[in-house]
Amino acid sequence: MKISIMGTGYVGLVTGACLAEKGHEVSCIDLDAAKVDRINRGESPIFENGLDALLTRNIGKRLRATVDAKAAILDSEMTMIAVGTPFDGERIDLKYIRACARTIGETLKSKPGYHVVVVKSTVVPGTTDGVVLSVLEEASGKRAGADFGVGMNPEFLTEGEAVSDFMEPDRIVCGGIDERSRDAVEALYAAFPGVPKLRTNNSSAEMIKYSSNALLANLISFSNELANLGAVLGNIDTVEVMKGLHLSRYLSLPDQDGNGGLRFPPINSFLMAGCGFGGSCLPKDVSALVAHGKAVGVPMDMLQASLTVNARQPDQIFRLLAKHLPSLKDKRVTVLGLSFRPDTNDMRESPSIPIILRLQKEGARVTAYDPAAAEEGRHLFGTGLAIADSLEKSLEGAEAVILITRWKEFERVPALLASLSPQPVLVDGRRMLDKGSVKRYEGIGL
Ligand SMILES: NC(=O)c1ccc[n+]([C@@H]2O[C@H](COP(=O)([O-])OP(=O)(O)OC[C@H]3O[C@@H](n4cnc5c(N)ncnc54)[C@H](O)[C@@H]3O)[C@@H](O)[C@H]2O)c1
Repeated sequence: MKISIMGTGYVGLVTGACLAEKGHEVSCIDLDAAKVDRINRGESPIFENGLDALLTRNIGKRLRATVDAKAAILDSEMTMIAVGTPFDGERIDLKYIRACARTIGETLKSKPGYHVVVVKSTVVPGTTDGVVLSVLEEASGKRAGADFGVGMNPEFLTEGEAVSDFMEPDRIVCGGIDERSRDAVEALYAAFPGVPKLRTNNSSAEMIKYSSNALLANLISFSNELANLGAVLGNIDTVEVMKGLHLSRYLSLPDQDGNGGLRFPPINSFLMAGCGFGGSCLPKDVSALVAHGKAVGVPMDMLQASLTVNARQPDQIFRLLAKHLPSLKDKRVTVLGLSFRPDTNDMRESPSIPIILRLQKEGARVTAYDPAAAEEGRHLFGTGLAIADSLEKSLEGAEAVILITRWKEFERVPALLASLSPQPVLVDGRRMLDKGSVKRYEGIGL
């Protein structure tokens, strides 16, 4: 199939590269000419495992990038919309979605034959049928269902594992206004045999995406709230509590080898305490759904609570620091991890941001280290934040070390701290390290 994709961010570029790998002819469209040039040179503008290799293999063959949206749309059978849908503080901001729908609609005016428009961005229920379809009809002068199809195909990839998530999906949701639109979405994924494909209308497809993110946000905040209570009650370690919870037959399965062992589903990784969730999806999507509920008169109390708990969670880091450093003024503090999760350079809504800002406000001298997000950190904090170029250097002279992101490299931290004298206190914001492996250890929910 010939596809055009609007937006070459995490979702658009990964979708484009993976669909090209699966045999489709893909044109990735972006407004950002520098990004487009990089992609056409086979360089990924984002840090994502396996993406460079896919670009090298497909660019100039089945994959290309362009700023010429009109030409790319005219030369394709389907256009996917994969642009950002930020939360503007009050509601989801659909300006990029509307702009894409307008460009596609204006192009369809002069395009003979049937075309399918598929929304891949995360949009609140009702957007594809209510906003995108209307703008398309108005701008094209054509009729949805007759002249063009409209589909909704939410994306579930996780940054850092985006390529493998896309190539081995757990499900493919094929939303559409009619069977023809759903057939087109399903045909796009013909080379993914054995993957459950769920055909729905567009609003249900939109809601499936929000339900998935809302569940994860709630599990994280639930775990954090319990951990915070345990820490104050004393003599309770959240890691043991969560281990006990995971052993429930609802959260474990007998091992397939029949030796009496157990397997744990991946959902359990969200039932663990930490310094809070971040990223470009959970905070904004939960906020957008809460706002959407409010707008239609349905209070979303539980989801609102997950946001409130999350916003307070960095306080736990400061509670633990204060046990060792009553004042942070002029103290050398090292922050390990800037990205919101490991294996990505994405710092959007990362808990590292409020933590660094508060450390700076309280007068600490902060040095950060991140294996992939140093450039993003410099961009965000400017010269106000020292960023070390190695884990070893970041720890030199530290009086306190805060672990914020579960990067694999940080498994080396206990050995490195043992070689320092005096040893700094370590505040483990992810309960990643063994509490006995560091002399002066503090952790969330301990
Ligand atoms: N990042 C994730 O992990 C993830 C996962 C699932 C779903 N989503 C959803 O996918 C959507 C895209 O997210 P992202 O993280 O890839 O966004 P992003 O911000 O990384 O990328 C968006 C891209 O769209 C481009 N763009 C904006 N307007 C355009 C236009 N009119 N024409 C062409 N290009 C345009 C921007 O220049 C940018 O490169 C969002 O709705 C997001 O919620 C994201």
